[in-house]
Amino acid sequence: MAFGPARCLGCSARFPVHDGLIDFVGDRAKLKPLQQAMELPWVARSWERYVRPAVDTVLTRGRLDHESEYTVLRNLIGKPPGPVVDLGCGAGLVLRKLSRDFTKVPVIGVDMSRPMLEEAMAQVRENAEAADFVRAQVPPMPFNDASLGAVVAVGFIHFVDELDTLLHEVARTLKPGGRFVATTYEAGKMLEPVHRGAGLFPRSEEALRNAAVRAGLVHFERVKVSPFLLWKVERP
Ligand SMILES: C[S@@+](CC[C@H](N)C(=O)[O-])C[C@H]1O[C@@H](n2cnc3c(N)ncnc32)[C@H](O)[C@@H]1O
Repeated sequence: MAFGPARCLGCSARFPVHDGLIDFVGDRAKLKPLQQAMELPWVARSWERYVRPAVDTVLTRGRLDHESEYTVLRNLIGKPPGPVVDLGCGAGLVLRKLSRDFTKVPVIGVDMSRPMLEEAMAQVRENAEAADFVRAQVPPMPFNDASLGAVVAVGFIHFVDELDTLLHEVARTLKPGGRFVATTYEAGKMLEPVHRGAGLFPRSEEALRNAAVRAGLVHFERVKVSPFLLWKVERP
């Protein structure tokens, strides 16, 4: 069911709201090659069962299963002092676990792929869980300053070219003490152009640490199952 549109109080721009999903993207997004795949309904429908496990196996070479990955993520998030946002939530695998674990704060999934969001919303409804959804191309992040308790980004930041802009947005939107927990992967310098050609931006641990410092984020911690990296920083 369509209703709205929602209107920005700052600039008066209007955004459609459809089936409980606020849409900041519309049809304007220019898509990089791999993102085009994320927009295919069959990829969204088979993401959790087939595509994601295959990607996980390649990245961790079978040394980290999803349950262990989530346990580490969960511990790194700690006790969020406000809403939890899952950036690039995809079909909602991590989001649904977050909504089960953090029942006292809102849990919000953000993605730019409509088919991924539709799949995530259907799964949440089917499991009678609670989560809100926003369609946005990040950065920027469509949230107020110091409004979030945690930002989670699983398999997301390597889709974003502008890492500094993203981390400044994370720092802007987190409350003091709020944490950013993300997974990504490294690639050798030689292979970077190949990844970039597909629209992926793998980064070394050093590049992540330096970008976090530039954004004013502190307390970098990481778990490395090379080339897979699971890391956390927080807003002081
Ligand atoms: C590899 S999938 C990970 C999905 C999910 N986090 C998981 O762990 O299964 C990356 C997701 O990020 C989304 N995405 C990529 N670039 C984005 C951007 N700039 N803004 C919002 N979402 C984006 C894609 O649509 C896709 O759903």
